[in-house]
Amino acid sequence: MTRRATITGWGKCLPPVKLTNADLEHLVDTDDRWIVERTGIKSRSINHMQTTDMAEVAALHALAAAGLEATDIDLIIMATVSPEITCPSNACHLQARLGAVNAAAFDLNAACSGFVYAAITASSMIASGVKQRVLVVGAEQLHWVMDYWDRNTCILFGDGAGAAIFESSTNGDGMLGADLGADGPAGSTMVIESLGTRYNLIEGRDPATSRLHFEGKAVFKIAVQGIAASVRQALDQAGVSADDVNLVVPHQANERIINAAARRLGIGLDRVMINIADHGNTAAASVPMALCDAANTGRITPGDLVVMTAFGGGVTWASAVFRWGQRVTAVGTSDAALPPTDATVFELLAANREFFAPLHSGDA
Ligand SMILES: CC(C)(COP(=O)(O)OP(=O)(O)OC[C@H]1O[C@@H](n2cnc3c(N)ncnc32)[C@H](O)[C@@H]1OP(=O)(O)O)[C@@H](O)C(=O)NCCC(=O)NCCS
Repeated sequence: MTRRATITGWGKCLPPVKLTNADLEHLVDTDDRWIVERTGIKSRSINHMQTTDMAEVAALHALAAAGLEATDIDLIIMATVSPEITCPSNACHLQARLGAVNAAAFDLNAACSGFVYAAITASSMIASGVKQRVLVVGAEQLHWVMDYWDRNTCILFGDGAGAAIFESSTNGDGMLGADLGADGPAGSTMVIESLGTRYNLIEGRDPATSRLHFEGKAVFKIAVQGIAASVRQALDQAGVSADDVNLVVPHQANERIINAAARRLGIGLDRVMINIADHGNTAAASVPMALCDAANTGRITPGDLVVMTAFGGGVTWASAVFRWGQRVTAVGTSDAALPPTDATVFELLAANREFFAPLHSGDA
C-alpha cells in the first residue's frame, strides 16, 4: 500500500490589531475604493508580538485540530521570509516553545511559496518513511519590511501565521502530485535587500535597502502565468484534470491574480478559496490560513481533491494536489491566542514611519 502524507490538523493566528483601508488613507495618498478594486483587500493585521508568537498560536490550534500533543511531532518546518531571528532557526525556537522535544526543526525560505514548498518537503519525507508526523507552519511579520509612506507596496501586505499537520496514511489519501520551481534571474522583481549580510556593519541599516521592493505589473504577469502552468503540471503528475478539482487554495496576493489564474485553468470561483479581504498578502502564511478557513467553514469534504498553489519572491512557485482524508472536522480546539494589546495600529507602525521618512522628505 502506498504511503502518503495526509493533512489531519490546521490552525491559524491572525493578530488582533487591524490596519484597515480607512487607516491607510491617513498614511498615504490612497482610498478604500482603489484598494478594493485593484486588490480585493479591505484590512490586514499588524502583529504586536514576534513571528514565533504567531507561529506558536497557529501550531497549538493545528495540534488540537489533529488531536495530537507536541511530543507526537517528529519534524517542524517553518516557512518564513520575515524571521524573528536567523540563528537559531525559528523552527527550533518554536520547538522549544511547544515542548516538541521529539521533533527535528528547520526554517525554509521560498518567500510566498514557502508553505507549499514546505508541504511538499514534509509529504516527501513522510512518503519515504523518514518522518511520520510533521508540523508545517507559515509565519510572517511583513510590516517589519514595509515602508508605510509608499502606497505602491504598503497597502498589500499583512502579518499572520498558519499551520498544518501532515501524517502518514495508507488509505489512498494524501499528496498525489506536485510541482515546484524557481527562476533566479527574475528574482529582482521582488527583493528585500538588506535582511542578510548585505546589511552594512559600519553604516547601519539603510532605509532604501531595508524595505520590500517589487515591480507590481511584472509580478502580476509572472504570477498569473506561473500559477496556471504550475497547477497544470501538478495535476498532470497526479493523473487528474482541472474538472476533478474540488477546491483550489491559492496564495492570496491579489484577488485579480487569483481570478485571472482560475480563469486560465477553467476553474470556477466557487471552487477557489479566497480570504484576502481581511488578511492581505501574508506571504508564506497565506496558504495555510486560507486552508484553515476552508476547513473551518465546511469547504472541504472527505475525499475532496484539494490543490494548494503559490508563487513569490525568488521567483519561486509551487503547487501540490492532495486527496483529502476523512478528517474534515477538528478533533479538538485550543484557546491559544496572542496576548491582548492596547496599542493602536498607528502606534505599532510609528517606528516604520520614522525609519523610512528620510526616503520621502522630497515627496510632493
Ligand atoms: C501592486 C498592484 C496592486 C498595482 O495594481 P495595478 O492595477 O497594476 O496598478 P498600476 O501599477 O497600474 O498603478 C495605477 C496607478 O495607481 C497608482 N497607485 C498605486 N498604488 C496606489 C494606491 N495604493 N492608491 C491609489 N493609487 C495607487 C499608481 O501610482 C498608478 O498611478 P499613475 O498611473 O499615475 O502612475 C498590482 O500590480 C499587484 O498586485 N501586483 C502584484 C504584487 C504582489 O502581489 N507582489 C507580491 C507577490 S508575492
